[in-house]
Amino acid sequence: MQLRVLGSAAGGGFPQWNCNCFNCDGLRRGTIVAQARTQSSIAVSSNGLDWLLVNASPDVLAQIRANPELQPARAIRDSGIAAVLLMDAQIDHVTGLLMLRERSSALPVMATAEVFSDIGAGFPLTKILSHYCGIQVLPMLPDGSVQNVPGLTDVQIRPIVLSSKPPPYSPFRNQPRPGDNIGLVIENPVSGARVFYAPGLGEITPEILTLMASCQTVLVDGTCWSGDEMLRQGLSKKTSAEMGHLPQSGPGGMISFLDLLPPGVRKILIHINNSNPILRDDSAERAELTAHGIEVAFDGMDLVF
Ligand code: MLT
Ligand code: MN
Ligand code: ZN
Repeated sequence: MQLRVLGSAAGGGFPQWNCNCFNCDGLRRGTIVAQARTQSSIAVSSNGLDWLLVNASPDVLAQIRANPELQPARAIRDSGIAAVLLMDAQIDHVTGLLMLRERSSALPVMATAEVFSDIGAGFPLTKILSHYCGIQVLPMLPDGSVQNVPGLTDVQIRPIVLSSKPPPYSPFRNQPRPGDNIGLVIENPVSGARVFYAPGLGEITPEILTLMASCQTVLVDGTCWSGDEMLRQGLSKKTSAEMGHLPQSGPGGMISFLDLLPPGVRKILIHINNSNPILRDDSAERAELTAHGIEVAFDGMDLVF
């Protein structure tokens, strides 16, 4: 089984079009050691031909071009993307659905009822797409049970409820509902190997930690290094926690939780905001991650399990 990181950056990507922070400006000028990253998405396959796209990034067309495996060219109109699964209704995870509108049949989309409610109203993607290919609505209950993925028979997906935040446009932004954000356990039913994927993770409960400890690899929220990083750089008025993302450093930060996992578990951060110093390969913060055995995802990264 294969998991390909298509986009490892948070909303905005790296560099972000209108941003001249130390990282974005430095990347454009070539004065920092870092690589560009597109917005948050992964793809999963058991045969290398049929893929589950997890999150539809605004960068999905560039991601398909950069990953030719997603275009197996079996017919005059074709795609390796058999279905899409949405982890939340954030702009960086759903906007790419619009780019897939030329599909010749309804696009199978797996999501919770809460996510379907946001993309049916606040950001009416399902309505808009009904005038193009249309969406096949495949509701998921985030209760940890195995979900059938259309077109992918031997990939097991278990969605679980996570604490984070629905998007700013959601009427439920300040009254989060279970199901606004999910985590995924992706399992190879043959080997039993499991990957935990959670690009938006606001809180790690004892149950989530136990689940993470049962996985071979965890691919988790790497949005911000410190809670006030965007405030301090004058980029935003919101803390990481207010956006539903647990920062990495400090007491109760992501690193302190990852340190509790058994030594065999591979730990990778994903969904990294352009303000985060860990994007610089030679930063002190990156060295600190390395000392804790934590990796930073990059576009094109492959996990085989
Ligand atoms: C988030 O997860 O908070 C997003 O990256 C925000 C966005 O897409 O604008
Ligand atoms: Mn995001
Ligand atoms: Zn920036």
